[in-house]
This record gives sequence, C-alpha cells and structure tokens, in this order.
Amino acid sequence: MKGGAPIVCVTAYDAVTGAIAEEAGVDLILVGDSVGNVVLGYETTLPVTLDQMVHHVAAVRRGVRDTFLVADMPFGSYQSSAAQAVDSAVALMRVGAEAVKLEGAYVSQIEAIVAAGIPVMGHVGMTPQSVNAFGGFKMQGKGEAGADVQAAAHAIQEAGAFSIVLELIPSTLAQTITGSLEIPTIGIGAGPHCDGQIQVFHDLVGLSPHVFRHAKRYTNGREAFAAALSGYAAEVRGGAFPSEPTA
Ligand code: KIV
Repeated sequence: MKGGAPIVCVTAYDAVTGAIAEEAGVDLILVGDSVGNVVLGYETTLPVTLDQMVHHVAAVRRGVRDTFLVADMPFGSYQSSAAQAVDSAVALMRVGAEAVKLEGAYVSQIEAIVAAGIPVMGHVGMTPQSVNAFGGFKMQGKGEAGADVQAAAHAIQEAGAFSIVLELIPSTLAQTITGSLEIPTIGIGAGPHCDGQIQVFHDLVGLSPHVFRHAKRYTNGREAFAAALSGYAAEVRGGAFPSEPTA
C-alpha cells in the first residue's frame, strides 16, 4: 500500500473493540501495549507483561476475522537477546497475531524474528517503553536529533521490517523518512505525510479521559456511556426497569 491510499490503523484490546474496528473497515489492527495505560490503569506501558499481551491478543483474535492483526512485544520481552525475542514473538503468533511490533533499532532481534517467518513492524521516535530515558512523553527527533531517528528507521528496514511506526516526531522529519524508505510509515503525532496513520481506539471514540494533541475524538463515548448508565440507574431506582415480562 506504500504510495497508495493512506493506510488506516487502530489499536484494539479485546474481542469487542477488535470487532468494531473490523466492522469500520480499518486496514490494520494493533493490539498495543498501550493496553497498560489505556485499559489496565497503569501510568505507562512498562508494567505490561508478555502473558498479559498473550491474553489480550487472543481476545482480539476472537473478535477479528479478516483484518491484519499485529501484536506489540511488551517491555522486557525482546531486549535481552535475539533468542528471547523469537520466543516472545512465537508466543504472540500462537494466539493469532499475524505480525509483531517492537520499539527501537533492535537489529539482531528483528533479523531473527523475520528469519523465523514472522513479519515485524518497527517503531521509532517517541517509543513509550523508553519514556524514562526520554525524561517524559516528549517529541523526539527535533533538529539534529532527526538524523538519529532516520538512521534507526533505515536500520530497521534493512533488518527486514515490513513497516514502521513513526511516533511524535516533527512532520517534516516524518515526510523525509517516508520519502527515503521503501517500507510504509505509519504515523501517530507525526503529521500528514506518512503512508498511514495509527490511533488509539479509546482516544478516537472519546473513552480516554484526556484529549491528546495528536488525537481526535470522533464521538464522546464517555459521555454517551455515562448517560446510558444513568438512565439505567434512574429506571431501576424508579421501578421502571425491569418491567413484568409479557406473557
Ligand atoms: O501501543 C500502542 O498503542 C502503540 C501505537 C500507539 C503505535 O504502539
């Protein structure tokens, strides 16, 4: 799809959100380790374990029939060695992923996973698993630092990745990287010049408590759900629900 229609990607964390994403006709569903901060109540993605990812990937798989399904490799599941990375990727593929994503230019790990027959998506820029090294969730690749991000993207392509996420980098840098790579770039907070975009499901539907600058709410799910539950509470308390079953 490089150079063609923009590639539409979204995260999902369970069978319900996966099925809704598929019904909407997205091109790619990512079971992101953002499950940690979006769904499980953690501050960051760092506490998310491989077992938790396996649990969520299996759930999304049950809700998704045909849409390309990518699983995030969580913090600590690939950094130690190529062998560790292959074992972790295999665990995610066994429960229904069709590719894995990992953060950073872990070249030997990517090469080993690809050699095992597993497609790999890269991820550079503001890679959330490195939030402590970055000193917060800050834009990366500004000014001269852009060259490092571009070099990492090229190393990941050369290692065999089929695509790469560019997160929270200047739009001009994303445009340069997109133009210089053969594989598609998928942006989040990286401007309009990437080959595709990815967003967090809960941000798009307004279930997240914050509205992030890199995101857009297409509906206010939080308000709609709260109104529905208030209606239910009022009817139970007022005796209107449930009504007598009709014979
Ligand atoms: O975990 C995630 O949701 C991600 C995307 C935002 C790219 O990595």
